[in-house]
Amino acid sequence: MLKKARDYEALNGAAVPEKERPAVHLTPYIGWMNDPNGFSFYKGQVHMFYQYWPYDINWGPMHWGHAVTEDLMHWTYLPCALAPDMPYESGCYSGTAAQDSEGRHVLMYTAHLNEPKRQQQCMAYGDGENYVKETRNPVITSDMLPEEIDPAAFRDPKLFYRWGRWNCLTVAKDRQGMGRVLYFTSQDLKDWTYRGAALLSDEDHGRMWECPDLIFTDEGEILCVSCEQLPKGGKYPGGHEVLFFAGRFDPEKGTFVPDGDWQMPDIGPDFYAPETLKLPDGRNILIGWLQNWDNRRDPKCDRLNTPSHFRWAGMMTVPRQIFLKDGKVCTLPVKELEDVLDEGVCEETVLSREQKEIGGVRGRTAYMELDLEAGNAQNVTVRLAKNGTYETRLVWEPAKKTLTLDRRDAGMDPVFSGVRVMHLEDSESLSLKILLDRFSAEIFLADGTQAMTASMFTPQEAEGITFCADKDAKMRIRCRQITK
Ligand code: FRU
Repeated sequence: MLKKARDYEALNGAAVPEKERPAVHLTPYIGWMNDPNGFSFYKGQVHMFYQYWPYDINWGPMHWGHAVTEDLMHWTYLPCALAPDMPYESGCYSGTAAQDSEGRHVLMYTAHLNEPKRQQQCMAYGDGENYVKETRNPVITSDMLPEEIDPAAFRDPKLFYRWGRWNCLTVAKDRQGMGRVLYFTSQDLKDWTYRGAALLSDEDHGRMWECPDLIFTDEGEILCVSCEQLPKGGKYPGGHEVLFFAGRFDPEKGTFVPDGDWQMPDIGPDFYAPETLKLPDGRNILIGWLQNWDNRRDPKCDRLNTPSHFRWAGMMTVPRQIFLKDGKVCTLPVKELEDVLDEGVCEETVLSREQKEIGGVRGRTAYMELDLEAGNAQNVTVRLAKNGTYETRLVWEPAKKTLTLDRRDAGMDPVFSGVRVMHLEDSESLSLKILLDRFSAEIFLADGTQAMTASMFTPQEAEGITFCADKDAKMRIRCRQITK
């Protein structure tokens, strides 16, 4: 099965024209991609695996695709790393990677079995390209779970070495249908002990959780989970969303104690299942799936997200640094982005009702930094990916303290075009960073406290960018093009 996938992708992946991929965002070599997996540093390179079904642009029996980068911006595809080729698995679901004491690259993943429906945790060992599955797989079986856990919903191991032992966090659903994070430890990666539940969900925090992550920063720890069913109609959009909790993990008790309420630093429509990595220089970086189950391409019900002739579906976000500031979880693009930008243009201007174009500010592969001062304006509108037919609007309403992303005229199926509203603290000024990369827009408040990630499958000829305001608002802009 692995050879078949490798032969298929070698033949078909290389045939995808470069212009049909984003410039710096990772896409599947061919076919379908969802969650980032095994984001790790090994032998001088950053490795990124991903949930992968090479044969179609829809989800299928999950393999692990594989790519590496040295600068976080240029990706090189490696052959497919895992295929579901063992009797205990019908799919190799999400997981993580680390380096073991013998210098091997260790992958820990979920073996999903269709019949009987079971999810159990497995290991594979390799050299950075070829991986061999552990003969004792699954190493964490569903028999090890307490009675109240549903063995069919137990997945997504986060593996890390700390406190003189191997640690693994997974998610699981209890028989009442609520999510929880489970904690396991091991000395040798083979024999694992269940230590208890690290955190429990409740009705307000979503039901089944997915893809747990634990991030250690000098200011404290961050637990991250992706939620299947966040209630709609609350402060945040609802549906599939990513929650972060600042707090402390107690390695003795095996519990995570949040410091305050949950946070959602990215409320965009296309952000899910992020995974983090601590780089050798100490930075924590995060990559998420630049899509969402609520917005996925689904030809069966005539929902086309990526253009129908594309041979890939799904992207990753740009790598982001994740950090805590005054108890707030923040994310911003990694500084390596600077290395793929040109000199660009800077301008200071006053906006009016008329849509203003600025020389050098255009295109679909650009990075803009904006500083806006509202003055007496009630609204300031930035139009992206614009031509006579299409546009995506970003509307700042200072008095309402909102920033709205509106894709209703982006040329995408209405199913994907929802409006997202970010609530702001300041009503006088707004600093933004906006990264456009052909099929997406990632919008960050410049202090990193909030972001909105959105796919944008508007035809590429829509490459205008305009600015306007109902009254004189001041804008300072720097715009640089991605040179890659
Ligand atoms: C999250 C998820 C994971 C699972 C994988 C399957 O998006 O549902 O929980 O391991 O995708 O592809």
